[in-house]
Amino acid sequence: MAIMSAFLCLLLILSFFSPGTSLSSNYYAKTCPNVESLVRRAVRDAATNDKKVPAALLRMHFHDCFIRGCDASVLLNSNGKNTAEKDGPPNVSLHGFYVIDNAKKVVESACPGIVSCADILAFAARDAVVLSGGPSWDVPKGRKDGRTSKASETIQLPAPTFNISQLQQSFAQRGLSLEDLVALSGGHTLGFSHCSSFKNRIHNFNSTTDIDPSIHPSFAATLRSVCPVKNAKNAGVAMDPSSTSFDNTYYKLIFQQKALFSSDNALLDSPKTKNLASKFASSKDEFTKAFVKSMIKMSSITGGQEVRKDCDKNEGERRKDRRSDRMFNQGFRDGRSYAQVAKSFGKENTKMNQNEEKKDWSSEKIYNDKEKAINSDGGEEDVGDHTSSKDNGNICKMEASSLNEEYL
Ligand code: HEM
Ligand SMILES: *[C@@H]1O[C@H](CO)[C@@H](O)[C@H](O)[C@H]1NC(C)=O
Ligand SMILES: *[C@@H]1O[C@H](CO)[C@@H](O)[C@H](O)[C@H]1NC(C)=O
Ligand SMILES: *[C@@H]1O[C@H](CO)[C@@H](O)[C@H](O)[C@H]1NC(C)=O
Repeated sequence: MAIMSAFLCLLLILSFFSPGTSLSSNYYAKTCPNVESLVRRAVRDAATNDKKVPAALLRMHFHDCFIRGCDASVLLNSNGKNTAEKDGPPNVSLHGFYVIDNAKKVVESACPGIVSCADILAFAARDAVVLSGGPSWDVPKGRKDGRTSKASETIQLPAPTFNISQLQQSFAQRGLSLEDLVALSGGHTLGFSHCSSFKNRIHNFNSTTDIDPSIHPSFAATLRSVCPVKNAKNAGVAMDPSSTSFDNTYYKLIFQQKALFSSDNALLDSPKTKNLASKFASSKDEFTKAFVKSMIKMSSITGGQEVRKDCDKNEGERRKDRRSDRMFNQGFRDGRSYAQVAKSFGKENTKMNQNEEKKDWSSEKIYNDKEKAINSDGGEEDVGDHTSSKDNGNICKMEASSLNEEYL
């Protein structure tokens, strides 16, 4: 068994540096030369309507790359027997999927069947950074999309409670260094966090102190006022006061003991990471240079096998859909009523889910890009919480069954 898991572990590590897929800069030069401008436009339009979009896309790409490599597994919907990453524990805090789905539609109409969803997400993450005033870079291309997405695997994401050795391990398992860890953590210059992601630091920290002493007292007081013990639904704070602008404020805040997560503060706990954080705090240029280098590294962790047509469905699901659509239409031709046919094909559920998703998205008025606190209606809710993860992030603990199915 031990040998077997060692073998699975090795296989998994190899699959992260997937030898099958090599990326290149000019991958679509002949087959879809305009793909990047199409994606850029889709991202820009969405971001114009909704300032939350850039942060969402950057984080989505990170989550994608950390589970099964950057293979767009984060975009797949749950289906019958399978709960996808999307619906796993950090689910509510990932949003903006529609931006990628729309970009894909535009790209499909220009170059059908050519561009992977994983590449579109990588472009979109870069565009999100550019739109927020950050650097631009050439994204390596040619990722393939995966077929598998499992909610249970979101436990492999680093948690905001992680200490420096846990963070180092989580990154090292993906071939990423301490420098990558410090530079990529700078992604927290954008966006929003729910109370559930840091409430362990401001209530019942441990048996001797209620508040994590590594948080500046005035900042702790602000956080506690936004996030009372029974926290308001969807309440939270901006990641930094300039949360729509890509800058190096994040690093300055860490040194002022105003980092939001233990995992941010943990960057001060080893000499190497502390030096890097200090360099980035004093030079936006050094930060952006390092960020670009590390983004290219992270986004080159590959893992997929195919080019999906719809970013939220793998080919197997699409085939099933087409078959059920044919049978569905046949049902009408047989003279049955809509309700009868819908019932026998579960279509009313499909409709309902789509509506649900739209509703979730549009009701998310949790943002306030000017500054900090957003309180909304009462009632406790844990959202986007992977702080409860007892796992140390060791991907090699991944269930053998899912490996068997997908990797062997
Ligand atoms: C180092 C380990 C990391 C941990 C533990 C971590 C954890 C978190 C948590 C808990 C949130 C708040 C979720 C919520 O409550 O809604 C968050 C948000 C965010 N993270 Fe990270 N993260 C990490 C690395 C990264 C990386 C590498 C990036 C990208 C380069 C990134 C980009 C973001 C962004 C942009 C947001 C804001 C999302 C939004 O506003 O929609 N994070 N992260
Ligand atoms: C999010 O995940 C939790 C826990 O896994 C689950 O109970 C909840 O239904 C999910 N929510 C959504 C919107 O998928
Ligand atoms: C980090 O956390 C792990 C798991 O809780 C623990 O075993 C380890 O000793 C901690 N390391 C440091 C440097 O605090
Ligand atoms: C609680 O946390 C503080 C600060 O990190 C530490 O000094 C103290 O020893 C901790 N107490 C317990 C019981 O772990």
